[in-house]
Amino acid sequence: MLDHTLFLLLEGYAWLPERRREADGPVAHTRVMGQRAAGLCGPDAVRFFYDENHIERHTALPGLVKSTLFGHGAVHTLDGADHRVRKAMFVSVLNGDGIDDLVEHTTRAWDEAAASWAGGRSVTLFDEAARILARGVSRWAGIPLDDAEVPGLAADLVAMVDGFATVGPRHWRARAARGRREEWLGRLVRQVREGAVTAPEGSALAAVAHHRDADGELLDPRVAAVELLNVIRPTTAVAWFVAFSAHALHRWPQHRAALRGGDVSFAEAFTHEVRRFYPFAPFVGGRAVKDLTWKGEHIPAGSLVLLDIYGQNHDPQLWPDPYTFDPRRFVGREIGPYDLIPQGGGDTAGGHRCPGEAITVALLRALVVRLAQLDYDVPAQDMDISLRRVPARPASGFVISSVMSAV
Ligand code: HEM
Repeated sequence: MLDHTLFLLLEGYAWLPERRREADGPVAHTRVMGQRAAGLCGPDAVRFFYDENHIERHTALPGLVKSTLFGHGAVHTLDGADHRVRKAMFVSVLNGDGIDDLVEHTTRAWDEAAASWAGGRSVTLFDEAARILARGVSRWAGIPLDDAEVPGLAADLVAMVDGFATVGPRHWRARAARGRREEWLGRLVRQVREGAVTAPEGSALAAVAHHRDADGELLDPRVAAVELLNVIRPTTAVAWFVAFSAHALHRWPQHRAALRGGDVSFAEAFTHEVRRFYPFAPFVGGRAVKDLTWKGEHIPAGSLVLLDIYGQNHDPQLWPDPYTFDPRRFVGREIGPYDLIPQGGGDTAGGHRCPGEAITVALLRALVVRLAQLDYDVPAQDMDISLRRVPARPASGFVISSVMSAV
């Protein structure tokens, strides 16, 4: 069978949906990175994929992704008891009362930045949002950071996300950024343990520095740094969704009034539609732990199994008119664990589903309302979102000018 790695790199988000369309049955059998791979999609596939008796992670993630996006030794790469104990730390830090504090830190950073956008100059919303989020999440996480250090940190966190699915210069930028930031945060963790730096009680810094793994040991400082980055990097990545939200408000301005008017349930529905509609993670992957059968088709032990996130979020059986941006589809809709999967599916505590989903929704909801409360011009620019580029984003980063508060 032909190895499809090159097609994957060239076709981006369309690659797996295309392989599934070409397949005779419910499984797209293909080869990537020299390995057999099986592509699946749909709520039943989510149940199947997130069953630990079927799929493991530690042998599945390519080095390219570990060296850029997640880090070596990250929670993403663990299975079984090791995963559960490490995941519990994330779930406790990232859910509950802490979310309001994070939103508070971040909206304050937005308000300060937005005040500086007035006066006719142009700003690139993606870059601004990344800096705002990096500042908000670092303060919240208890990581000491001067204002002057924020732009460099934001650029490094963005680079780590931007470079995970490519082999060119973006990849090398991501590796360099990761190396720099793991060293910085590893040093900080050591200082906290030695008592030279105080980590605020209940902060992510304190939780990671003092966390004990399933073997009862503290994390190696480098792994602790990896996991701190696994809090501040994806939070900063909400900038992608802020840029997509601006794009949506530009294309479908009829949604601005409801957001501006503070309709909370509409704002929440808008964030879900942004997460469903716009491309971010194309798929998630694991490895078959034994010979498996999926809807009558054989998946040999050791195959890669890929769950088609982009495909499922645009499946017309789940989302009528999937290529229409319509936040109202989420108003009054109960979201199940297996249908909307931009951040993975299944159970958060027991499986690999993203523990930052509540944070993502809370931050985005607060920021899109603030964005809608601004008046601004959108100068001519290339705001194309290429589905060949992973991760996708409006090419221009979404430039706005003549910014004024409308409230
Ligand atoms: C896992 C997407 C925001 C922390 C994941 C996964 C996806 C994802 C697709 C993999 C699920 C799987 O392997 O099955 C996103 C997107 C985000 C986002 C699109 C929005 C920008 C966040 C935030 C945090 C976070 C804000 C933390 C503050 C994590 C962690 C994992 C994870 C720690 C690993 C979970 C595990 O392996 O058990 N995310 N995420 N993410 N995410 Fe997010």
